[in-house]
Amino acid sequence: MALENSNPKQLAAEQAVAYIQDGMTVGLGTGSTAYWAIQQIGKNVHSGLQIKAVATSIQSEKLAAELGIPLIPFSEVKEINVTIDGADEVDGAWNLIKGGGGALLREKIIASSSKELIIVVDESKVVDQLGKFHLPVEVVKFGYELTRHKLSMLGCEPNLRMEDQRPYTTDNGNYILDCDFKQISRPGECHDAINSIPGVVDNGLFIAMAAKVIVGYKDGSVKELQK
Ligand code: A5P
Repeated sequence: MALENSNPKQLAAEQAVAYIQDGMTVGLGTGSTAYWAIQQIGKNVHSGLQIKAVATSIQSEKLAAELGIPLIPFSEVKEINVTIDGADEVDGAWNLIKGGGGALLREKIIASSSKELIIVVDESKVVDQLGKFHLPVEVVKFGYELTRHKLSMLGCEPNLRMEDQRPYTTDNGNYILDCDFKQISRPGECHDAINSIPGVVDNGLFIAMAAKVIVGYKDGSVKELQK
């Protein structure tokens, strides 16, 4: 049903939260869409939903704690049933670019340990081909100029992410190089080539990891994509 004056990110996130059931361990994503999922999970917990959660960033961990969502340390996590997270781009094969918010490494660790990754986006994120959004690559600080040069040899323009006139530092103490590839025609090969460069910790390509993609539209409708 279409709702007027609705927020597409919020609508997609709330539809995803409906998949969470009592007893689950839930991965909490990062960003302005995952924010709405965490808000709804907080409301459901307040109404009696029994879950445990792990967060993909310090920011989401703080929000979850404020909302009274029970968080468990990673040493106690046996399996994650479902993770709900946003994305910067989603292609027709449900490959993703993530990391616009800088949390790509923790997001990928948690997504890869989740039985199900549900991606929530507004319609602007759905693309035919990945690459218009500059691909975030997390690199160690040491020798990052050399790593940047090697990345550029793959055919992109890597730019050091800045914040408040200083290099942005991730929750893991690393830098981000935002790589302008213009278009990424073979995402799997691109992923592997980037991660084979010494100094690269991980990159924001999530290949065949999404189990569901839920899209919110400006007209207030929400659609779960079918492959
Ligand atoms: C965080 O690092 C990202 O992967 C986000 O999930 C992604 O950037 C989407 O963010 P928004 O939901 O804020 O657009």
